[in-house]
Amino acid sequence: MGITVCPVTPGFAAEIGDIDLSQPVSAADFAAIQQAFWKYSVLIFPGQNLAPEQHLAFGAMFGPIENERTLDPKATPTRYTGAFSDISNLTADGKIWGESSRQRMYKAGNKLWHTDSSFKFLPSLCSLLYSTMIAPIGGHTEFADQRAAYDALPAAMKKKLDGLVVEHWIATSRRRSGFSEFTEEEKKRLPPVPQMLVRTIPQNGRKSLYVASHAGPVYGMSDAEGRALIDGLIAHVTQRQFVYTHRWRANELIMWDNRCTMHRGTDFDDLRWVRDMRRVTVSDVANSCEQEGVPLPAEAAAQRSALAAH
Ligand code: OGA
Ligand code: MN
Repeated sequence: MGITVCPVTPGFAAEIGDIDLSQPVSAADFAAIQQAFWKYSVLIFPGQNLAPEQHLAFGAMFGPIENERTLDPKATPTRYTGAFSDISNLTADGKIWGESSRQRMYKAGNKLWHTDSSFKFLPSLCSLLYSTMIAPIGGHTEFADQRAAYDALPAAMKKKLDGLVVEHWIATSRRRSGFSEFTEEEKKRLPPVPQMLVRTIPQNGRKSLYVASHAGPVYGMSDAEGRALIDGLIAHVTQRQFVYTHRWRANELIMWDNRCTMHRGTDFDDLRWVRDMRRVTVSDVANSCEQEGVPLPAEAAAQRSALAAH
């Protein structure tokens, strides 16, 4: 028997049943999962019991795993290094974090609408987030469909956006969530990068917006005009008709396509309840400008060669 696909809406988010991800996934099941993933962009796998290696092995079927954490582990140690991001409110020794801890200040940025790793030159294809313990109330994750939002734009807006390139920078989103103390090491590792404002998903030819809290200036526009454009698009994408709110169960794996969705965590009493999740993040095949065959804006290209020369 193959997998069962239970769509949440006709085109966005689906629950997947009749698969045990702790076991090797057959070629036929994997092909069916991929088909569902390209169609629905967010897949929910309830009732999984995944050891870290099993979680990682399933993620690695989709491509290379990101291995570097955004925050320097020396400045902010967490329980995991390497392939796993600690998406919990726990410190390295497993206690609920402190109210003004660096980890908590940084993670507050996850409550802004974003897509993972768009601030890296090689961005992410998808993330796989696994829950082991959930908060009794709150702590949902919301997902927004950037493909449906693109489709719904007026033709004149689609034309205006065609070929535009945007600077994505982790400091842009963190400035907005009130975190500004990156170390020199982190600043060096995380320079601003160019990404397309509209991209095409190769597996189905669908066009998608590619905006996020990390998105800052638009190349070729004044800062004010670019900011207004990005803010307007984020407001458009996150209208209720494009959003699915997921209420977690424990032992659930959710994977989402970072190329064409945004997500955000909702509030919960994080100084009282433990919410424990870990994430594996899969790299995309190339920068979004490279994938679209759009040359980097001169300013971004110059910045990249200056970095390479260092
Ligand atoms: C993430 C993320 C939000 C949440 O894991 O990338 O943004 O609800 N999570 O924990
Ligand atoms: Mn995220």
